[in-house]
Amino acid sequence: MESEIKALQQKAEQEIKAVSAQAQLEDLRVRYLGRKAEINRFFAAMKSLPREEKGKTGKALNLFKKKISSLLEEKAEEFSTTEEKEDLTFPGLKIDTGSKHILSHVSEEISSIFERIGFQVIAGKEVEDEWHNFTALNIPLDHPSRDAFDTFYLDLEEKDKGKYLLRSHTSPSQIHVMEKKKPPLAVISPGRVYRPDKVDASHSFMFYQLEGFCVDKNITFAHLKGVLLHFAREFYGEDVVLRFRPHFFPFTEPSAEVDVGCMVCKQKGCSVCSGSGWLEVLGCGMIHPHVLEQGGIDPAQYQGFAFGLGVDRLAMLKYRINDIRLLYENDERFLKQFNEI
Ligand code: PHE
Repeated sequence: MESEIKALQQKAEQEIKAVSAQAQLEDLRVRYLGRKAEINRFFAAMKSLPREEKGKTGKALNLFKKKISSLLEEKAEEFSTTEEKEDLTFPGLKIDTGSKHILSHVSEEISSIFERIGFQVIAGKEVEDEWHNFTALNIPLDHPSRDAFDTFYLDLEEKDKGKYLLRSHTSPSQIHVMEKKKPPLAVISPGRVYRPDKVDASHSFMFYQLEGFCVDKNITFAHLKGVLLHFAREFYGEDVVLRFRPHFFPFTEPSAEVDVGCMVCKQKGCSVCSGSGWLEVLGCGMIHPHVLEQGGIDPAQYQGFAFGLGVDRLAMLKYRINDIRLLYENDERFLKQFNEI
């Protein structure tokens, strides 16, 4: 009887393996495992077998059931996956792709405007020493002008205490470049800067600046104005207006702060520009002769201009973002609005 069961099992296995459509599978299940299946005949016959044979036959019968049902299951699974694959009308899975952060996008846009007129992009350092962040830039350690650049110092061992800091502006990049390269220089250096400011709609303890400077013979303030006006027109559009206001920076002389005409109200006065029609976006000036000297460049032969743009500010004005915190909270609902830019 055992061999008969085995033969039946073989037959069933072959037939199941050869099945090519799901509907046939059900027929086979009925034929081999159903109520009227041939195998049931052996179950009935087992009762009248001598004791010693009962065990063996029982085993063979159980094996048959197990094997055939698992084969049927496997085959059914095969069909379910291939049929899903073949259904071309089945809706695809929507995958959320990442996209560039609005600040990266703006920073790259600004850099490429300057690159197109010959500026070279150079990375600065976020951790600076006091000399590069202050002293070389004409900001003596005990001078009140230091207060404008309030600073995070690194908490280090006694011997290095107070020497290293998170840069409070990108201007130290000027010194790093002058130390390594000789004029003519036309460089921009974008990156993060840190100041222990209280966080509110227009202040963050970390934000982005872009330093730009140029050193060569016969460089004048007119070059600075020309470059900045070109930049503003490329970035905001032809009808942008700029205003240069005299200002003081220890590392430039003369110095200016630059405002753009408020594009929200077309200079009529609104809440964004506090009614003045102007918004401050950058600081600039002619590089102080002493700073050129600190960078190893002879001020009797060379002049330079420098500027520091507030990237967050520029982005907020262009895309009408009214709170700087939105740029750093990484709320997808906010960020997604700029996916198509
Ligand atoms: N470093 C200045 C600031 O952070 C900006 C600046 C850069 C001014 C270059 C003049 C020249 O406020």
